[in-house]
Amino acid sequence: MDKDRKLIIAGNWKMNKTVAEALDLVKGLKRDLSQVKEVDIVVCPPYTALSDVSREIIDSNLRLGAQNMSEQSVGAYTGEIAAEFLKEFLVRYVILGHSERRQYQEESDALISQKAATAHAASLKPIICVGEKLEDREADRTQAVVEGQLTGSLAGLNADQMLETIIAYEPVWAIGTGKTASSDQAQEVHAFIRSKLEQLFDASVAKQVRIQYGGSVKPANARELMSQPDVDGALVGGASLDVRNFSDIVTNSI
Ligand code: PGA
Repeated sequence: MDKDRKLIIAGNWKMNKTVAEALDLVKGLKRDLSQVKEVDIVVCPPYTALSDVSREIIDSNLRLGAQNMSEQSVGAYTGEIAAEFLKEFLVRYVILGHSERRQYQEESDALISQKAATAHAASLKPIICVGEKLEDREADRTQAVVEGQLTGSLAGLNADQMLETIIAYEPVWAIGTGKTASSDQAQEVHAFIRSKLEQLFDASVAKQVRIQYGGSVKPANARELMSQPDVDGALVGGASLDVRNFSDIVTNSI
């Protein structure tokens, strides 16, 4: 595929996989994807599997991501995980503001922007999630919602930090539902996000930032989605839990 931006495909395992299951999964991915150079491939296990998965993939082309982290650096924050702890396991990416956290943990754009600043301070690359709910789309509010999320969650980032940030567009109605946005619907919002990045930063930043699509990505729809001019990868939930499905998504995207 002929894009200047390198594709980035990340598996968001959510609250799935014991350590033993996680190791089985990454061993399979290592076997199936060892030759892939065209795509940055990222796995995001739960915290409890980071250490073992990190050791397993150390000499491979797979990279490690976390699903969340604290906006605080260290201290009296019971149950929280600091960016520095993630670094100990060679974590390079961190998903921030996933819609499930926005919904169940009531994470706000302001909190997500603090987390993004903390991630950059630790040289972790944030994958910042945005996306509208079904009622927003039906009321023609998709762009307004996505614009609000972008403006709020990217507030305070400078251009250099933005270049090390990934955006994931995940329409909430397409997550775990089997309903994928059509490639046209995805492209339309991705192009809109890129135009907002140009306004918030500049044209050069907007051109370089990678924007992933997420929401029921499967081997069967990956190629079509990835062929859109502003779709630069995928954030994959359900289909990332299976070696064959995730490997096929990566190889079908090239
Ligand atoms: P899904 O999840 O692929 O299961 O729809 C995507 C996500 O939540 O990142």
